[in-house]
Amino acid sequence: MIPVVFFVLLFLTDGTSSEKLCSYRELLDHLNLTTDNSALKLTRPVLDYTHPTVVELDIMLYAILAVMEKTQTFIPFLWEKLIWNNELITWDPAQFCGITQISLPVDLLWKPDLFIYEMIQKDESPRNPYMFVSYNGRVTYEDDINVVSTCEMDVHKFPFDTQSCNISIGSAIHTVEEFRLLPFSNSSRATQFSREWMKTQGEWEFLHLTITSSNITYSNKQWEQLVYTFTIKRRPLLHVINFLLPILFFLSLDLASFFISDHRGEKLGFKVTVLLAISVLLLILNDILPSMSNKTPLIATYCIVIFALMLLSLLETILVTYLMETNSASQKKLTDDKEDKKKTGNCHSEEGEQTAVHHCSYFSETSEGQKQHEILPLAKDNRSLQPAESVLLLILGELRKLQETLNLHLNSRETEESSSRWAARINRGFFIFYVTTVSLFVPLIFIQWHN
Ligand SMILES: *[C@@H]1O[C@H](CO)[C@@H](O)[C@H](O)[C@H]1NC(C)=O
Ligand SMILES: *[C@@H]1O[C@H](CO)[C@@H](O)[C@H](O)[C@H]1NC(C)=O
Repeated sequence: MIPVVFFVLLFLTDGTSSEKLCSYRELLDHLNLTTDNSALKLTRPVLDYTHPTVVELDIMLYAILAVMEKTQTFIPFLWEKLIWNNELITWDPAQFCGITQISLPVDLLWKPDLFIYEMIQKDESPRNPYMFVSYNGRVTYEDDINVVSTCEMDVHKFPFDTQSCNISIGSAIHTVEEFRLLPFSNSSRATQFSREWMKTQGEWEFLHLTITSSNITYSNKQWEQLVYTFTIKRRPLLHVINFLLPILFFLSLDLASFFISDHRGEKLGFKVTVLLAISVLLLILNDILPSMSNKTPLIATYCIVIFALMLLSLLETILVTYLMETNSASQKKLTDDKEDKKKTGNCHSEEGEQTAVHHCSYFSETSEGQKQHEILPLAKDNRSLQPAESVLLLILGELRKLQETLNLHLNSRETEESSSRWAARINRGFFIFYVTTVSLFVPLIFIQWHN
């Protein structure tokens, strides 16, 4: 049984191959494509001119090569498939060994004159040189196109933005009566296929593709076109790490600098450094954002407000430092005055019944105009001195000196405190204002971004 089947199979294969060689040549001869048949590529391939040529178009997104906000260009890499009917080419596959389709050079037959409205640069990449022709006249052409198109982008929400770019495709000369353009697959299928085929996405994430058909009317003529809308979303991570977070870090550094003491110039220097760092970041922003935009980008508001806050805090520090400086200057002057007064302090003696006590009184004036009157026993009359008494007197003298310096110090401390109270008040008030503004502004702008 098995050898018989084997023999029959051998006979069949041997018989068909020896009977006739099936080449494409005969088919081409039959279609008159080997001779000069330019009529096939000259006109729309219909038997009657009233028949419209129906072209089915399928487009898929392979890759997003670039999206440039500055020049408002969107460069996708697309795959397109065109299917249309050529009424002039048909054959019976039975007559040609069952050949059902043949690949032919593109310039041998008519091809739809599709063009992309948004395209601003001719695609110079090599075209697919072949197309498939089926026995029933259906012609299929596939190609990759690198489209450099314009796309109006709104950068208001940069870097949390979503952009929609249109690619409109239509016939250049054929009106809707002669040329119909239909989508091969619907929006959801095209979206799904694009997601599966997508090679690279880079900074942008492909969300969906919607296909709409529309008619353009111009001087009583109508052209049909298909509009492919690509919705893409920016991946913000890089910009958040590169830009938004560093600004927040600098802001928190600026907030922390409130805990540096005002007395030395360190705080001022620190704040100026932080402000300079922010300015460098602003330069980067200038590189990214396009200059034309009717609505202020949120990121610009974010930067400007934070920059302004830091500037205010710097000005506040300058004011406080100035107050401190004037304080210490007036304080120094006061101390000098006091020293002068001490030298000319009026001393007088009081004569008691048994002892004479020498008194020295000093008048010192504080900044608030309070008079301070100190009376110190200076010395007893030298005449009735005992050795113990002289030691006590020595101690007394030392104590007096100590009290003097102490008083001086106390006075200066007091005046300083009273006048630096204002500085502290300003500091506290501004700190509260600063913290409230930041804690209101930052969440608010992030809510705006995510709306
Ligand atoms: C090819 O040309 C011959 C002679 O001009 C013509 O008779 C024939 O119909 C043509 N074949 C097709 C498929 O058009
Ligand atoms: C465009 O015109 C054709 C022919 O008149 C019509 O069938 C089609 O529905 C029109 N398309 C739109 C979107 O109006």
